[in-house]
Amino acid sequence: MTREDATLRVGDGEYELPVIVGAEDEVAVDINRLRATSGVVTFDRGFANTAETKSAITFLDGEQGILRYRGYPIEQVAERSSFLEVAYLLSNGQLPTRSQLDEYVDEITHHTMLREDMKHFFEAFPRDAHPMQTLASAISALATYYPDALDPRDPWAMDISMKRLLAKVPTMVAWSYKHSCNQPYVYPRNDLDYVANFLHMMFSFPVEEYEIDPAVAKALNVLFILHADHEQNCSATTVRVVGSGHANLFSSVAAGVHALSGPLHGGANQRVVEMLEEIVAAGGDIAPFVARAKDRDDPFRLMGFGHRVYKNFDPRAQIIKRYAQEVLEKLERDDPLLAAAMQLEEVALQDDYFIEKKLYPNVDFYSGVIYRTMGFPTDLFPVLFAIGRMPGWIAQWREMAQDPTTRIGRPRQIYVGEGKRDWVELEKRADRS
Ligand code: CMC
Repeated sequence: MTREDATLRVGDGEYELPVIVGAEDEVAVDINRLRATSGVVTFDRGFANTAETKSAITFLDGEQGILRYRGYPIEQVAERSSFLEVAYLLSNGQLPTRSQLDEYVDEITHHTMLREDMKHFFEAFPRDAHPMQTLASAISALATYYPDALDPRDPWAMDISMKRLLAKVPTMVAWSYKHSCNQPYVYPRNDLDYVANFLHMMFSFPVEEYEIDPAVAKALNVLFILHADHEQNCSATTVRVVGSGHANLFSSVAAGVHALSGPLHGGANQRVVEMLEEIVAAGGDIAPFVARAKDRDDPFRLMGFGHRVYKNFDPRAQIIKRYAQEVLEKLERDDPLLAAAMQLEEVALQDDYFIEKKLYPNVDFYSGVIYRTMGFPTDLFPVLFAIGRMPGWIAQWREMAQDPTTRIGRPRQIYVGEGKRDWVELEKRADRS
């Protein structure tokens, strides 16, 4: 779809630029030929105004708080589907029929085991290793076990790699956790569904089976779905950029895990709970934390607040808040962290600083409170985000790999360093320290 062109004037030059309009009327000025015709590039820190790709996977309207997977509103998807059904939807573009879903689930389920010698892989890591580092390394290592299925231009290799990855990630996470607590590994059970099997591998012992609470399994299924994709965020963009050089799926997604691990991205859920623990430990007074977040000279930020795209509310946060309350009620638990989180939200939403800057609770604000109630350790929270995000990374990677217009990701820069100067011999250099 194209509308009229846009005109850009730079100095004496005037350049016609095509305008692209998306399916939801998003308008973009196409600058693909800008440098070739004018010698000028654009400058856009954090890609805040740059659409790098056309995508048919996820639609997000940050002003209205809308999130849709392949057109389906997140509220409906979260309530009605299973995580693997969502994975199918994201990758294939359509909801599966009953037989398509059965076949897909069956295939994934039959790839849940890891190669036996991969056990030693986890043992090579320190017991207190952060699980995000271990997960990224384990995903990277998958490429060494399946060298015949790595070519991103081979449809068979692409398909089997996507299924292996989705199937094996919960086993890798659970085994890395078991290693961290010096407990025996628990093998997957293919009679359980994806989420129940993960809980089983995490919390069962060879001598005692973990009893899966349906309320916990349901809430975790919803949490995974809410994290499943979020269009061109930091980690999805990383996956696409790495993949644009024709790196295989495992390498691309391992890079995505690293991108997600940062506290401004998926690492935020761990930081939220640490912040809430600090608030509770300090007696529950949230005022000093809010004051610090507003202080320009203090790097402290309210973790779980703010979003690059959402400027009204994050629909995922609203669903998670409801589940956090429900899960705690069903498990008959009372968590001071939930009370602190709700109080913090209330105060921040009435504060001019947060109102002016349009800062609202994001997906990470309440998720940690639920994970904690379920028995997951705090450093595992970003890993749970990564399990949830796996279908999105896979779908984004596949869309990128199959798009004939994809080019290697290679931005420009504005050089602001020294001009040309002559080499100075070691002995003749002045001390500038
Ligand atoms: N607490 C206090 N001030 C904040 C916060 C916060 N959580 N977030 C943004 N601000 C201020 C920021 O200082 C800036 O102020 P000013 O205009 O005076 O310089 C303004 O709001 C705009 O912030 P920004 O950093 O320019 O916005 P961004 O779009 O580049 O960053 C963000 C978005 C999510 C990284 C940021 O809001 C943040 O650091 N939040 C805390 C970490 C967090 O919760 N991350 C999870 C994000 S959602 C899930 C995910 O993507 O993984």
